[in-house]
Amino acid sequence: MRISRESTDYRVYRILSENPLSGEKLAKKLGISRTAVWKAVQKLKECGVYVESNASGYTIAGEEELNPYEVARLAFESGFKEVHFYDVTDSTNSRAKEYGKPDALFFANRQTAGRGRHGRKWLSEEGGLYFSVTLSPPLDYSELPKLTLIAGLSVAEAIPQSEIKWPNDVLIKGRKVCGILSELHGEVERPLVIVGVGINVKNPDPENGISLSELYDVSRREVFEQVIRNFSKNYRMLLDGRWCELRRRIERRCSSVGKAVRVTTPSGVAEGIAEAISEDGSLVVSGKKIYAGDCIHLR
Ligand code: BTN
Repeated sequence: MRISRESTDYRVYRILSENPLSGEKLAKKLGISRTAVWKAVQKLKECGVYVESNASGYTIAGEEELNPYEVARLAFESGFKEVHFYDVTDSTNSRAKEYGKPDALFFANRQTAGRGRHGRKWLSEEGGLYFSVTLSPPLDYSELPKLTLIAGLSVAEAIPQSEIKWPNDVLIKGRKVCGILSELHGEVERPLVIVGVGINVKNPDPENGISLSELYDVSRREVFEQVIRNFSKNYRMLLDGRWCELRRRIERRCSSVGKAVRVTTPSGVAEGIAEAISEDGSLVVSGKKIYAGDCIHLR
């Protein structure tokens, strides 16, 4: 389902989140009919917002923690213009690509064909966080890999004791807790960038990884809120020309730096000591800049 700030159901949700209100007053406030209010309330109920009707009017008596409207609220506060919410979809990156426009967030409770890098699958059972954002940043093509790095930073800064494995994984105790898949579509001059994030929060059995719930008592809501807030701040910093600061923070969090690594790149395998994240976001391995690849920590 699609939610925009202007949609009646979202506006009703926001008003009722603040205070209970009668159908009549809601209708007046929004300039719509009472039937339209009633329909919006039914929609909220279907989506896990428990609306009761009592003497004070319509009241939100409780809600599922990451219902579509709460996801939308958090996304709108972070600057996104619309939200597409799925209980199940194949892949939020695919949905985002189909949509083809910037400033939207795609969120799923479960994916049936979650995709990872290099054609790998991303197991997407209920309990994890799966979302993709669409962006059209006014950046040079060569700068786009920085978006993956700031997405990783945004996740790492939301999760205690986590580390970035260059370029796009977040690990805890050496085990993967988050993967990021960035894809480009459209014209080279101003491509649409899709950044897809998968985080193991309460997944029952993450393949080769770790779920946050094995270590912390966290909710998907807390993690989503923190990550999306961090991402929006970091994205604005990048557009404001503050990459240097971001790079320092990434380097501090990046456990690849200082380790012996093997990076499989499109043009071959590079092995050596990862020395730094350079000014352009590449990984410097024994003096050589690596722009993209699959990195393994050797020791
Ligand atoms: C990787 O580690 O290889 C990247 C995994 C990326 C998974 C996320 S989940 C949300 C989005 N939709 C997808 O199909 N993939 C990304």
